[in-house]
Amino acid sequence: MGKDSFSDGDSKKGANLFKTRCAQCHNLKADEGNKIGPNLHGLFGRHTGSVEGFSYTDANKSKDLVWKEDTLFEYLENPKKYIPGTKMAFGGLKKGKDRNDLITFLREETK
Ligand code: HEC
Repeated sequence: MGKDSFSDGDSKKGANLFKTRCAQCHNLKADEGNKIGPNLHGLFGRHTGSVEGFSYTDANKSKDLVWKEDTLFEYLENPKKYIPGTKMAFGGLKKGKDRNDLITFLREETK
């Protein structure tokens, strides 16, 4: 696998990345509700912009794709490029390895 696609990473490192880069805005567990960003429970296989009760931008809602490893891999490198007009205030994880670690963690923890 090259640097431009997802491959399995280290979920322990991903947990740390989530804690430091995402957790201030996102919860992972079904009963935890939304924060500044939508709850990420059930993320894999879910359509963009579909968390009930969360007020998304039209940009996020109309992106019209399903979140899974490869779409997250591209999105998290540069969210504002992938979804122009998103209100997610996050610059992106430039290193493919970091994205692999984080996505591996998310795949386990959002089930
Ligand atoms: C400063 C707050 C903030 C940070 C930090 C942040 N997010 Fe977000 N995130 C948001 C907001 C707000 C949205 C909704 C964007 C919109 O409606 O345009 C969002 C949307 C998303 C979505 C799309 C969800 C959907 O249902 O379509 C994903 C996936 C996501 N964020 C993952 C992450 C991950 C993983 C991280 C850490 C690397 C992260 N976010 C960091 C605020 C944040």
